Amino acid sequence: MSKSAILSSSIAKKYWMALTGLFLCLFLVGHLLGNLQLIFKTGEEGKLAFNQYAHFMATNPAVKALAYLTYFSILFHSIDGIVLTVQNKKARPLKYANNNPAANSALPSRYMAVLGTLVLLFISLHMANFWFKSKVSNAAFPLHKVSVQQDGVQTKMDFYITQNGDYIPVSQFEEAEQMTEQGLMKIPASFEIKNGSEIYLKKEGLKRADGYKDLHGLVMSYFGKPKDGFPKNTWAGIAVGFYVLSMAVLSFHLWHGFASSFQSLGLRSKKFAKGITAFGRAFALIVPALFAIIPLIIYFF
Ligand code: HEM
Repeated sequence: MSKSAILSSSIAKKYWMALTGLFLCLFLVGHLLGNLQLIFKTGEEGKLAFNQYAHFMATNPAVKALAYLTYFSILFHSIDGIVLTVQNKKARPLKYANNNPAANSALPSRYMAVLGTLVLLFISLHMANFWFKSKVSNAAFPLHKVSVQQDGVQTKMDFYITQNGDYIPVSQFEEAEQMTEQGLMKIPASFEIKNGSEIYLKKEGLKRADGYKDLHGLVMSYFGKPKDGFPKNTWAGIAVGFYVLSMAVLSFHLWHGFASSFQSLGLRSKKFAKGITAFGRAFALIVPALFAIIPLIIYFF
């Protein structure tokens, strides 16, 4: 292959890395705004708002298309990054005689591949914990429940809220026992949950409604505030520490990556260079910091 072809192909790779990187920055902003509800909206209303938001994100066709673009961008950005790093190493087999990286480039820029790999590791573990459990695995997922105090009854009763606004008593999903003249009778459950969140009439085998998956409970339990239906996470403190550290790594990655992507796209003209660098650095500090405070607040408050 001619030298110019290698150059142009590596320029093309940088271009696509920049484009997918900037798209992932947009994803981060959307994901952050959605997740901030976890700490800014509290109580039963906050819990329902988050689960309804998560349901909308999982089912709206336009959002779904964006989600596929996000998965594709993560894969493409990572693979392209690895190929570029290997290509660069091969193209420069001999170390420069006067190599002084500290003087020639900022620290994060020299470690983009390592930082990117760590971010990818974080995303893989993060998706295994949240996304896989709620979207891919079809195991019965705890549904959104509310406790309601009915008139004249002292104890509260639990209900599942369905997507069409109905309340179905949780007790009707369990077999019950009733004392009759003939003795203790078993009353079979009226409903069952299938395919993660679909509510079926058990005897007739007919679908009655869809429940909301309790993603709020999943996240809260994972970060040390156990909720009904989810196991206690004995590693919550370590999980929080891992999130905070990972956000520091993400911050370093964005510190260089944001402005550099404008450079690769040919958009970092002299006039705007300073502004783009300043915006990129603010983005690199603020977005990961806001992500990091979510698990910290859930764990400590
Ligand atoms: C405290 C911080 C965060 C929380 C609480 C959080 C929460 C979640 C939850 C609950 C899901 C599952 C959504 C669903 O299945 O419908 C999810 C998916 C995901 N998260 Fe996060 N997240 C956080 C930070 C991040 C960060 C920093 C990144 C990237 C660097 C990230 C990347 C992703 C991706 C790629 C998905 C899959 C998206 C999709 O299917 O649409 N998350 N996150």
